[in-house]
Amino acid sequence: MVVIFVIATVITTLVAVLIPWLPESASEEMDGIVFTYWFATVICIGIFALVTAVIVEAVMSFRVQPDDDTDGPPIHGHTGLEIAWTVVPAILVIAIGVVSAVVLSQNADARDGSLKVRVFAQQFAWTFRYGDDVRSDELVLPLDRSVEFEFTSADVIHSFWIPEMGQKQDIVPGISTDIIVTPTRTGRFTLVCTELCGLGHSTMRAPVRVLEQGAFDQWLEQRAAAAEEEAGGGSTGGEGEAGGGEAGGAQELGRTTFAEAGCGGCHAFEPAGSDAEIGPALNELAATAEQAGVPVAEYVRQAIVEPQAVLAEGYQDGVMPKDYAESLTPEQLDALVAYLSGGEGTSG
Ligand code: CUA
Repeated sequence: MVVIFVIATVITTLVAVLIPWLPESASEEMDGIVFTYWFATVICIGIFALVTAVIVEAVMSFRVQPDDDTDGPPIHGHTGLEIAWTVVPAILVIAIGVVSAVVLSQNADARDGSLKVRVFAQQFAWTFRYGDDVRSDELVLPLDRSVEFEFTSADVIHSFWIPEMGQKQDIVPGISTDIIVTPTRTGRFTLVCTELCGLGHSTMRAPVRVLEQGAFDQWLEQRAAAAEEEAGGGSTGGEGEAGGGEAGGAQELGRTTFAEAGCGGCHAFEPAGSDAEIGPALNELAATAEQAGVPVAEYVRQAIVEPQAVLAEGYQDGVMPKDYAESLTPEQLDALVAYLSGGEGTSG
């Protein structure tokens, strides 16, 4: 029986160790999760090997003889055995519970000097905000510093998950949720949405980059300077010099609105460098509008505020959000229409 126990232990251990079940950890929180995983797995391997050994031993040693028709001896329980198989699993389950609770509570604590990042999820795109000024479509994080994520959803339930960083959190419309992640190695990762949220769910991903604190500060400064320039009306470069004209500013606003509203999460549009295929491509809007016999700006505006009015062939109603008339400011909407119409004038 001991031999069988050892063989079962070795085989299950090999299966557990040789197959990479988890990605290489990239955060403190993931370290805790990996520890919990192995804690439970080791216990499971022991129990599995013990049960296997007892079953195989019972089958081999107590097999009934072909001519043996007698009943087995009457047995009325075994108090010692019953106490053992009640107490031992109880201790193991409590131990797993305690370890999980400790790791959960540790993972909910941010280190001092944490960074706050607000995350906006919508079908089917992610937007990240650092402070009041900096917005990004890429999630950039500093190394060895706790990041407090605060989540908001514009539409349905999404879920935030960077596999190498372990932590996972649902993003529920109407309430604000949060989570802590402390990256422990630099590199590129992928943020994925893990809650089925519609047709484009599988494409709802965002690039994640972990930088050394210095490089991160530099990135943040650059983004803040760029945002300031945008706000200043689109300067042609230089330290916060507000140059450029109305037209440049409007085009810039169109470009940023396209990014912030998540249009590129669903639509292909060459000037924005997006190639998603959830919704119709937006590269030939002028031609499409001409076919429909409508001025292009009017056509585009209706497609944004009333997406159900005219459906492109092969696309369904109910995928594109219908609340852009409310969620965008009039200026943003005008700029977006102009941007998508190819820079032509807007109709009021
Ligand atoms: Cu968002 Cu799935």
